[in-house]
This record gives sequence, structure tokens and C-alpha cells, in this order.
Amino acid sequence: MRAADADWREHARRLADTIAAEGVLRDPAWRAALEAVPRHVFVPRFYTQRRPGGEPLETTAESEGWLGAVYRNEPLVTALAATSSGSRIPVSSSTKPGLMIRMLEALDLAYGHRVLEIGTGTGYNAALLAHRLGDRGVFSVDIGAELVADARKRLAGLGLAPTLVAAHGAEGLPGHAPFDRIIATCSVPAIPAAWAEQLTEGGLVLADVKRDPHAGNLAVLRRYADRLEGRFLPKWAGFMAIRDADTAPEHHHTVTVEIEAGSRSTTALDPSPWNATVQWLLTHPRLPGDLTFGYRNGGRWAFFTVCDGSWCAVRTEADQDGIREVRQSGRTAIWDEFTRAHQRWEDDGRPGWDRLGLTVLADGTHRVWLDRPDGDARWELP
Ligand SMILES: C[S@@+](CC[C@H](N)C(=O)[O-])C[C@H]1O[C@@H](n2cnc3c(N)ncnc32)[C@H](O)[C@@H]1O
Repeated sequence: MRAADADWREHARRLADTIAAEGVLRDPAWRAALEAVPRHVFVPRFYTQRRPGGEPLETTAESEGWLGAVYRNEPLVTALAATSSGSRIPVSSSTKPGLMIRMLEALDLAYGHRVLEIGTGTGYNAALLAHRLGDRGVFSVDIGAELVADARKRLAGLGLAPTLVAAHGAEGLPGHAPFDRIIATCSVPAIPAAWAEQLTEGGLVLADVKRDPHAGNLAVLRRYADRLEGRFLPKWAGFMAIRDADTAPEHHHTVTVEIEAGSRSTTALDPSPWNATVQWLLTHPRLPGDLTFGYRNGGRWAFFTVCDGSWCAVRTEADQDGIREVRQSGRTAIWDEFTRAHQRWEDDGRPGWDRLGLTVLADGTHRVWLDRPDGDARWELP
């Protein structure tokens, strides 16, 4: 890290320029934080996956190109854990800096605010927050005890001492509540009740609300006396899902199927869920839950399952007329439900995330709405 210490400031400045060129980083206080906090201290190693299922490649501070890579506007996987099948999967990462700044700006922070971060990870975001708000304003929890211990050491090395706790973020941090802001850097299927309880009235929570890896987005919700309410951020982003333990999450329903045996139809729709995140959220109320997605048969089929064992497969390649083959099986016709939601989305004028909002009621009901919370177009998430 010796050479690094000499030139990281130039790298940090360039990173700030790159982010500013995206139209983010409008607040000079966040530019000052980005230029003052060394990301390389928080990312002494990262992992890259060369091919799906392959062994991740480790890049450390001793590796060629490490410093430059750490100051690119990219997310970096920083911790792996072994699953029961023996493969190592990402359990923590340093978020793409441009996305972090987008979220921090959306939080509308001011000096004197008390902020709770769910997902300490490397500690880099906590450092940016502590630079802006001082140690006393920053609280951060992670389910990974070792992650928290490492982050605490790195922050201390820079003279920063926000409150870090190894805990399940769904509980918030009751001993230190209330908070003016809560920011989650892992996705949640629903906003935990503890977060609403620990937020001051008028306070904001910013979280990636996703029932499934693609069905949802970041939302900024204000706390009112009887509810949380706000809008999704205009641009889609995806965080790793909240874990229930300090271990690798296990995916239980691996379905073995004979794709050709499913009932046959065709579709003109693109099966990549990343190109239809709004439509998949609108499909969600019609599905029994636990939607999974992956590719099968060497990437020839996009494959979806739900918890009742139903599945559908859609050819990734379209014919010359843009038509793809579909196979479905089980009680829930997943692709038919998606097609219906897609049609409704077309009828509503193809709304982007900027037109969608979310209300969370005290009983836990999550209601997605189009344009207005009290309008006709509303969907309750199951
Ligand atoms: C994208 S990383 C966080 C990045 C971090 N903010 C940074 O600046 O490096 C997501 C983090 O969420 C944490 N996480 C997952 N489940 C959690 C839970 N139940 N409670 C708290 N943190 C959790 C993971 O361990 C991981 O470190």
C-alpha cells in the first residue's frame, strides 16, 4: 500500500469526476467526502468471477492493477462464504460508488442527523457518512461479525469511530434509536416494522425493496404518523439480499425438470428480467412467492420457478420475427401472469420507476401505486 498512499488522492479525484459526469454528485459536501476517504483502505482485496460457477479470482493490494481497479466506478465483491455444496458465493461487496452517492444524495442528509446504515460491509459508506456527519451521527450494523470487526479497524485507522454493531439489521438498532435516516445496503423483501418504529416522524428510509432479485427497486419513504410513503428512485439498482445468518444464503428449491415436457406456447416478450423490472414487480401479486431466475441448457432457456413448484422456460434466442418458444408447467402459469402484467403496464403507458411509489402501512401491508398513492392503479404485494 506504500505506493498507493502517494497517488490515491488523484484516483479519488478522478472517481469523483466520473461520478459527477453521470449527473450525480451535485452536493459539494459529498464530493469532499469522496475525495477525502480512501476507498483502497476499505477494499484491501476483491474477487472477480471469470465465468459462472468458476472459482473467483482474488486481487489483493499486492496485485498488479489493484489500486486503479479500486477507484473505478464499479462494485467490488469483498467477501465470499461457502455454501453447503462447497461453492463460494459473494456475501459482501463495496457498492458502486456512483450508486452510493446517488443514494446518499437521495437521503437529503444534514449535519446533526442520526443515520442508521444496514449493511456495514467494508465500512466505506460508513466512512463517507462519518466524514459528513461526524462519528456521533453514524450507526451501522452488519450480520457479518468479522466484516464489522474489519470495518471498525479500518475506520479507526482513519481516525473515525462511528458506532458499529454486529447484528441482524431487520431489528434496527433499538438501543440507539430514534434515527432521522435509515439506509439499507442490502435488499429486503419488505420494510421491517422495526425500521418504521425507530425512525423519527418526517424521517426517511432508503432501501432496496425486492421480493425477488429483479422484482423491485430502491425506494425513499418518509415516515408519517400512520405509514411510510414515497417513491422508487428513477433508476433501477440491485443489492445483495438480506441474510438471516452470518453464513452463505442457501437456495433450497433447485428444480430438476424436463423442459421439453412443459406445455408449449410462444411469446414476443424478452425473457431477461433485468429488462422488465417494473413489469416483474407488477406480476408479483399474481405469483405464490419465491420467484427464482436462472439460465438452463447452456443458456438456451431463461428459467423461472415459484414456491409451488411451477416453472416456465423461455428461449433466449428469438426467431427472425422476434418470437420465442415458451414451456410452462404447474399450477401457476408464470409466463402467462407475466404477459398479463406486461399488457397492463403497456396500457398504463409503460411507466418507468419514476412513476411508481410505495406505501407501507402499520400492519405491514406494502402497496405499490402508479403516480398517486390514492389513485386507481394500486397493487398490494403478497
Ligand atoms: C453491498 S454490501 C454493503 C456495502 C457497504 N455499505 C460498504 O460500503 O461496503 C451488503 C451487506 O449487507 C450485509 N447484510 C446481509 N444481511 C444482513 C442483515 N441481516 N443484517 C445486517 N447486514 C446484513 C452483508 O453482510 C453485506 O456486508
